[in-house]
Amino acid sequence: MTLNATVQVAYILAALLFIAALAGLSRHETAKRGNRFGIAGMTIAVVATAVVAVRDSSRGALLTLLLIAVAMAIGASIGIWRARKVQMTGMPELIAMLHSFVGLAAVLVGFNTYLEHEPLSGGELRIHLVEIVLGVFVGAVTLTGSIIAWGKLSARISSAPLMLPHRHLLNLLVLIVTLALTIWFAVSPSLVLLLIVAVIALAFGLHLVASIGGGDMPVVISMLNSYSGWAAAFAGFMLGNDLLIVTGALVGSSGAFLSYLMCKGMNRSFFSVIAGGFGAGSTTGAGSGNSTEYGEHREITADQTAELLRQATSVVITPGYGMAVAQAQHPVADLAARLRANGTQVRFGIHPVAGRLPGHMNVLLAEARVPYDIVLEMDEINGDLAGTDVVLVIGANDTVNPAALDEPGSPIAGMPVLHVWDARDVVVFKRSMATGYAGVQNPLFFKDNSQMLFGDAKDRVEDILRAL
Ligand code: TAP
Repeated sequence: MTLNATVQVAYILAALLFIAALAGLSRHETAKRGNRFGIAGMTIAVVATAVVAVRDSSRGALLTLLLIAVAMAIGASIGIWRARKVQMTGMPELIAMLHSFVGLAAVLVGFNTYLEHEPLSGGELRIHLVEIVLGVFVGAVTLTGSIIAWGKLSARISSAPLMLPHRHLLNLLVLIVTLALTIWFAVSPSLVLLLIVAVIALAFGLHLVASIGGGDMPVVISMLNSYSGWAAAFAGFMLGNDLLIVTGALVGSSGAFLSYLMCKGMNRSFFSVIAGGFGAGSTTGAGSGNSTEYGEHREITADQTAELLRQATSVVITPGYGMAVAQAQHPVADLAARLRANGTQVRFGIHPVAGRLPGHMNVLLAEARVPYDIVLEMDEINGDLAGTDVVLVIGANDTVNPAALDEPGSPIAGMPVLHVWDARDVVVFKRSMATGYAGVQNPLFFKDNSQMLFGDAKDRVEDILRAL
């Protein structure tokens, strides 16, 4: 087999392993296997690409290999350092930051490809130029969009949506101007035109994500994931690398599909997300008022909660972001095991956007070895909550907020939520009466069957375990 054919076979094998990785990652039980497939595919891809680079290089094999090794060593060291350091709660920011690197890479590849002057002509040259301009555009949008998402998620910039006048018209205008510039560039290419497209795209990405409200950030992250995939696919076209095209398209389409599923989970329109300015609902609705609007809340102690649990025959635990902050998953798993050992039916109800990244709660519960069969999705558990004795709301807020159903003026109106208030008793674990991510007050805390157990979720669950 020639070297070319061997590389093509390696690329096909890597692409198949990436597809197997995605399939594996779609279920808890097979997620680890999926990761192994992904690692194997990426190893094959990197080796095959290095072989091609060495073959095609004009600098000599040794220098090319050295450059690749140095770049990989720097990248890997930073990657290992960040991966070890990052808290689970900081994952979305890290992911946003990594997406911005994909965008930056696509922009740099675009400029490099243009400056290297491929020896093409006629239709082939035009198509190549269109690839370059689109690659730079999508890459630059991903770059600034991801930086703004990183800033919002890490609270470095305000999560409030930027509401420029006529913003949809502005976005449409940008797309029309970009289309015109693309045609111009294909007919008469110049560095200045490419720079203009890059600057417009940088501003467009910034505006697109800046105009999205904090509560809708989960969708933005998976949307940027999709954009980063398309940016990589365009880089693949520019570099003539089939595997990068396939991989980019896989990331692009799976990210778009995830965005669609999340929009469905939050009852939002997918197209308004793509257009930006999504989630810009009123922040002064009835739901955002302070606690006095809803009356007085009641408090409960850990000992009293233990007593309530001792007498319950069915318990549902609905975790949220606060469980991740408190790192309470291990005592929560112990509590579930203890109650189950006493014959109590215990199940977990997981909201699709609980926490700060898709599957956040599932990952934490899996880490604490909670059996998969008692971890149910929101739609599976909601119908059973009315027949449940006790619901423990552990660090969740927006995802159990009845205002989403009852208050049309609320910023989270229309978002599906866990109907925890249908249970006989609800105990809410949190540190204060502060609002959740969307910044809206929660009438659940003031309902007759709700009681607040204040303090760090991990400490309080451990107190309950001791009392039991
Ligand atoms: P949130 O609404 O964010 O509420 C979390 C609650 O946890 C807070 O009210 C906080 O109250 C409490 N808390 C924080 N630290 C705690 C600790 N150490 N011990 C006990 N409680 C603690 O959580 P949620 O219900 O999971 O909702 C998720 C929200 O994030 C949604 O609005 C969603 O749209 C958004 N979001 C989701 C994602 C994804 S993909 N999941 C990504 C970005 C944003 P105190 O401060 O009073 O303790």
